[in-house]
Amino acid sequence: MRRSGGETVESVHSSTRTPSRSHLAARGETNSETFPITSMQFNIRDPLQPPNGEATMRLIEEELSVGSSTPLATACLPAGVDFGLQEHLHGRRKGEGWTVTIGAGSQDMIYKGVNALMNPGDVVLVEAPVYAGVLTIFHELNAEILEVNTDGNGVCSHRMREILRIGRHQTETEAVLHGPVRLNPTGSTTTSERRLEVLALSREHDFFILEDDPYCSLYFGPSNRPPFYFALERDQPEVGRVLRFDSLSKTISAGLRVGFASGPEPILRVMDLHSAAVNMQPPTFSQVIALKILSAWGYNGFTAHTAQFYREKRDVFEAAMQRHLAGLAEWTPPEAGMFFWFKLLLNEPGSGEEAEGDSEYIIRTTAVERGVLALPGATFYPNPRKTPFVRASFSLLPENQVDEALRRLREVVLEVRKANKRG
Ligand SMILES: Cc1ncc(COP(=O)(O)O)c(C=O)c1O
Repeated sequence: MRRSGGETVESVHSSTRTPSRSHLAARGETNSETFPITSMQFNIRDPLQPPNGEATMRLIEEELSVGSSTPLATACLPAGVDFGLQEHLHGRRKGEGWTVTIGAGSQDMIYKGVNALMNPGDVVLVEAPVYAGVLTIFHELNAEILEVNTDGNGVCSHRMREILRIGRHQTETEAVLHGPVRLNPTGSTTTSERRLEVLALSREHDFFILEDDPYCSLYFGPSNRPPFYFALERDQPEVGRVLRFDSLSKTISAGLRVGFASGPEPILRVMDLHSAAVNMQPPTFSQVIALKILSAWGYNGFTAHTAQFYREKRDVFEAAMQRHLAGLAEWTPPEAGMFFWFKLLLNEPGSGEEAEGDSEYIIRTTAVERGVLALPGATFYPNPRKTPFVRASFSLLPENQVDEALRRLREVVLEVRKANKRG
């Protein structure tokens, strides 16, 4: 674990412990009677009365005062914390060697988790393609990034074994794996067998797994979805190698900035110290609002609502892909999240051209000129490369615009094919 200025995890923990009530006067705490907000009322969509039903939520002064009082040097509200998610979804009970902390979105938590675990120049194994937002964190640390490729069944664990056998990380450096559950951009899911192999590798080669999963509730694949690393490790010979990241950004509000990390207590306490130093604590006001909504909806209410919405969007997008890009692109329909990841077939079959081509110019220039916005696949690889893959989001557009966008993309691909044939 990254060493922070000689301070032990225990001393960090005791120095950030909440003082008992009788000592609070020593802290120069603002009297919340002077704060202006005494109650708050807002409407939320009611999952029991879709699509237009609304329910009114009211927060009284007592509930709000928890969120508006002077920050304590701990990361989260005493109540709620992870809203019972880890127990509900992953069957992990309290007292099984893990705890939870809250941050300003899962990005904040990943940043702090990585900085708690890694020193500059350490090795990180990254599933590729990968969410580009984590690459900046690893670049900032000057980490040595080793790409582990993925296919329709998620991370290629056998490839990871080979990389580890070659032993680049068996130097003085420590290693972590960024192992998302459902890949952004690809939307595919790693199978249980592969996850178990990765867990075995983490013990054999002594690394931590960062389970980055903000799309946890946006799942619309088969009902028997594979268990998460965090759930699987419970039955392993040892626990404490998985640091899991969840978020409310995809389900409640990206602007509330509520994300949380679950994992071994010593690591989370170092992350809390980081929060205490940087911004005292993540906004408790956001947590009060989120807790109110979740208590009203119940966990099942809000996940069912969100997953159903995105499943329909995915189906609309896939139908338009079939209409316009069948034979011109290849894809596996995503089982979760909000992205379609597809490979453009830029050469006609039998053209003799071996190279698959590159989507970079086509997507960033030609498609943009036609009003079609997507991201070229190269954005999602740690190391520069040419790739014919593209990531398109299906979360926002209505059906007619999806249809029009993919019709235009079809024209672009046909033109590129024609030019490749001439050239
Ligand atoms: C895979 C992945 N991890 C983390 C994040 C960060 O999410 P948050 O809004 O909770 O910070 C995102 C955002 O899109 C993401 O796609």
